[in-house]
Amino acid sequence: MQNSQIAARRAAAISRGVGVTTQVYAHKAENAEIWDVEGRRYIDFAAGIAVVNTGHRHPKVIEAVKAQLDSFTHTCHQVVPYENYVALAEKLNAAVPGDFAKKTIFVTTGAEAVENAVKIARAATNRPAVIAFTGGFHGRTFMGMTLTGKVQPYKAGFGAMMPDVFHVPFPVELHGVSVEDSLSVLDKLFKADVDPARVAAFIVEPVQGEGGFYEVPRAFMEKLQEIARKHGILLIADEVQTGFARTGKLFAMEHYGVVPDITTMAKGLGGGFPIAAVTGRAEIMDAPAPGGLGGTYGGNPIGVAAGLAVLEVIEEEGLCERAVSLGNRLKQRLSGLAASIPQIADVRGPGFMNAVEFNIPGTSTPDAEFTNRVREKALERGLILLTCGVYGNVIRFLAPVTIPDDVFSEALDILEAALLSAKEG
Ligand SMILES: Cc1ncc(COP(=O)(O)O)c(C=O)c1O
Repeated sequence: MQNSQIAARRAAAISRGVGVTTQVYAHKAENAEIWDVEGRRYIDFAAGIAVVNTGHRHPKVIEAVKAQLDSFTHTCHQVVPYENYVALAEKLNAAVPGDFAKKTIFVTTGAEAVENAVKIARAATNRPAVIAFTGGFHGRTFMGMTLTGKVQPYKAGFGAMMPDVFHVPFPVELHGVSVEDSLSVLDKLFKADVDPARVAAFIVEPVQGEGGFYEVPRAFMEKLQEIARKHGILLIADEVQTGFARTGKLFAMEHYGVVPDITTMAKGLGGGFPIAAVTGRAEIMDAPAPGGLGGTYGGNPIGVAAGLAVLEVIEEEGLCERAVSLGNRLKQRLSGLAASIPQIADVRGPGFMNAVEFNIPGTSTPDAEFTNRVREKALERGLILLTCGVYGNVIRFLAPVTIPDDVFSEALDILEAALLSAKEG
C-alpha cells in the first residue's frame, strides 16, 4: 500500500478538523524508529507528542500489557475495581511533588485530566474562576480549550467559551514579556475583572508545550505560589507534556521549590497506552461527592498496567539522567550551528524537552516559513520533527528518552543537514 492511497482515503473519510503534519502512514515502530507502509524508515523526534518517552513498544511495557490482556481487559473500576489501579495511584501519590498525603483519580486523556482538576478545585474551594496563561495548551474539550491561550485553531468557530476563565500573559523575556509584566497584569485582573476570593485555581504548564517550550521563570513560579497562598487559590500544574522524565526529572515541578496542590498527567504515563491521572492533596481530591468523578474507561486496566511498567522503566534505565545528557548534546549541536544559521534566535529547554526558535535574520520577527522548511527537509531525510509556538516558529524536540546513541547521532546529522538545506531555500 502507498502512503498517497491512504491519504486520499483519509481525506474522503476523516474530518479535516483532525489535522495531520505528515503523510507518513505508520506500519511498525520500535523504540525511536517508525517504518511506514512503503517500508521507509524514520527517526521519531515526536514520540506521539511526548507519549513514548520510554520508546515505542518498550519490551517491559508490552510484557505488562500482554499479561493484563491475558487476565482481563475491562470491568469498569466503578463497578468491579481492581488492584493495579490502586497500586499505580499509590506510586503516583508518592512520586508527585509534595510532602503531604495525596490521592489520585485516573481518566483517559490529558484534556479529561484538566477538566477533572478544575472540577476538583472548584469543589474544594467552592469558587468558580480559573486563571490560565496566554500560549498555554490544556486540551480540546470545552474547559480545556477555554483554558488554552491560543485562538487559532483551538477555539475558532466553537462558540461561547466557559465562563469565569481569565488569561494572564505568560512571561517570555525573549518576546518582551517580563515576570513583572505578567504579575502586573495579574494584579490589574484582580482589580478590574475578578475578585481573587472568587478564584479556585491557577493552571500552569511548568514548560509550555504546544505554546512554544517556554519555561516558567523560577521567580514567577515562586510568586504565583505566594499569591495563591495569600488568596486561598489552588495551584494546578499541568504536567501532561512535561511529565515522566522529559525535563530530566519525573515531574517538571521538581525543578522549582514550588509544590502544586493538584497535578495533571497523561501522555508519557502510559508509554503509548491511553491513561491520564489527577493527583493532589488528599483533602482536596476528596472534595467531590462519590460518583462526581470517574468515567467508564478511566483507569482502564491495560493503561494502568502500562503506567506501572513505565515508572519502573524510568527508574531502572535512569531516564531522568539520560534526558539531561541527551538534551545537552542536542542543545550543544544546535548552539554550534547558530553562527552559520542566522535564523536561529534561541536554543532552550530543560532535560530533553528542547526547542529551537527561528526569526527572520537580523530581526525579532518570527520566521514560521523557515521553521516549516526545516521540518519538511528533515522529513525528506527521514527525521520526524514537530513545530509549535504561538507564531509557529519553534521546532520542539521530543524524541524517546530511550533513543539509542547511534540513532541519536544519525538524527543530529540529519537535523544539521535539514537546517543547512533550509537556509539555501
Ligand atoms: C499541557 C497539556 N495539557 C493537556 C493536553 C491535552 O491532552 P490530550 O490531547 O491527551 O487530551 C496536552 C496535549 O498536548 C498538553 O500538552
